[in-house]
Amino acid sequence: MVARNQHLVPITWGSSTKFSILQVFVALLFAVFFIGAVYMAGEYVTFNMIPASVDDMFSGDSLSECNLFSGKWVFDNTSYPLYKEKECKFMSDQLACNKFGREDLSYQNWRWQPHHCDLPRFNATRLLERLRNKRMVFVGDSLNRGQWVSMVCLLDSSIQDPNLKFMNYNGSNLISFKAVGYNASIEFYWAPLLVESNSDDPVNHKLPERIVRSQSIEKHARFWTDADILVFNSYLWWRRPHIKVLWGSFEDKNGIYKEVEMLRSYEMALKTWSDWLEIQVDRAKTQLFFISMSPTHERAEEWGASNDQNCYNETNLITKEGYVGSGTDPKMMKIVENSIDELKSRGLKVEIINITQLSEYRKEGHPSTYRKQWETLSEEQLSNPSSYSDCIHWCLPGVPDVWNELLYAYIFRQ
Ligand SMILES: *[C@@H]1O[C@H](CO)[C@@H](O)[C@H](O)[C@H]1NC(C)=O
Ligand SMILES: *[C@@H]1O[C@H](CO)[C@@H](O)[C@H](O)[C@H]1NC(C)=O
Ligand SMILES: *[C@@H]1O[C@H](CO)[C@@H](O)[C@H](O)[C@H]1NC(C)=O
Ligand SMILES: *[C@@H]1O[C@H](CO)[C@@H](O)[C@H](O)[C@H]1NC(C)=O
Ligand SMILES: *[C@@H]1O[C@H](CO)[C@@H](O)[C@H](O)[C@H]1NC(C)=O
Ligand SMILES: *[C@@H]1O[C@H](CO)[C@@H](O)[C@H](O)[C@H]1NC(C)=O
Repeated sequence: MVARNQHLVPITWGSSTKFSILQVFVALLFAVFFIGAVYMAGEYVTFNMIPASVDDMFSGDSLSECNLFSGKWVFDNTSYPLYKEKECKFMSDQLACNKFGREDLSYQNWRWQPHHCDLPRFNATRLLERLRNKRMVFVGDSLNRGQWVSMVCLLDSSIQDPNLKFMNYNGSNLISFKAVGYNASIEFYWAPLLVESNSDDPVNHKLPERIVRSQSIEKHARFWTDADILVFNSYLWWRRPHIKVLWGSFEDKNGIYKEVEMLRSYEMALKTWSDWLEIQVDRAKTQLFFISMSPTHERAEEWGASNDQNCYNETNLITKEGYVGSGTDPKMMKIVENSIDELKSRGLKVEIINITQLSEYRKEGHPSTYRKQWETLSEEQLSNPSSYSDCIHWCLPGVPDVWNELLYAYIFRQ
């Protein structure tokens, strides 16, 4: 059994730091360069068409092509939210929008409806049984951490006994939720660029310059290579025109630094990542997933609102089918796709959970001003709320719960 004498801490991300994660991203966004909307041909995934009410889906005989990522949002306040913000004791203050004053709660009530089939219903007990004696690890940045918090809340609500669940955080990059009754571990590992970088500190990572050791991943990977389910992401931290790449170590005075065009450095990092997976991962045991780009909503003029605004005060969805804003970069998606295709040709399967399009519609799903502010806001900021709005992360319960429903569907896919 799992030892019970470990450190129990509430999740208050970065409360001890002088830097706000939002600030990092705001700084980052100034570096973002605009890329026009480009469509790439999506690969269709085969799913059985079975109604959501049938728990044991994907084992029936009515096979059909169904792309779970293509669909629409349907208002559904009977089934959603899947859990209550207040009742999840592992909720993050970065994402608890109601707690921080958001009154319009409709962002909690949307169901994702794929065009040609239904999403299977999320059954926490079933997933915990699947995870018995296993480790599921989310590896990536704060968006992936948000998805992990969502997953923890989804599972938490099915474990009534408070003694049968706890959070283990020992000050490293790894934080683990333990479902004691199942000996299941649902973890998050902070590695925003996947490879080694100068932003690897889980708390103090706000640095003016981004430096990656694009050839080096083992410092991180040794903590999760043996996991049973791995869920990666890496996107926003790359969004600047150039990244400084280091050959040599951070300690080494003779290391060689070179400014590399971002797309090229992203490609290099993903190469290191995929080479590592190919050699180190037990393909008979481990299921691998990559969560695609999470869109930001920083420019209201893109959806027809005034041009000095962002997601602040938004309460409605974007309804234009196929809407794509400048908060995503199709070229980066293509690089991920290529790396994963390449791995597939070498016999290792990584499933892309394509959350990009469905999240594009959700301009109202971000915390905006309704989250914990780590720093005192100035008069000037307070008089202009959109200036400190978080249009990057997502309120919970909300959009990331649906990402987890998609992940769930793939975990149980035959
Ligand atoms: C994800 O979906 C979008 C929109 O449907 C599509 O353009 C893109 O190619 C897809 N990406 C992958 C990797 O499947
Ligand atoms: C659900 O939404 C409808 C329409 O807005 C409203 O009339 C109803 O009271 C809501 N039900 C719940 C349980 O919130
Ligand atoms: C959820 O899964 C468990 C275990 O597989 C099963 O016993 C239960 O009936 C399922 N619940 C629903 C509502 O389908
Ligand atoms: C408990 O789970 C861990 C993985 O997190 C596994 O290594 C270990 O063998 C499990 N313990 C038992 C008794 O099965
Ligand atoms: C935290 O846990 C990891 C993995 O179990 C371990 O390698 C590391 O040394 C621990 N760190 C601290 C500060 O205890
Ligand atoms: C927020 O939206 C409401 C309704 O759309 C509008 O009446 C109000 O003026 C907006 N507030 C700000 C500060 O933009």
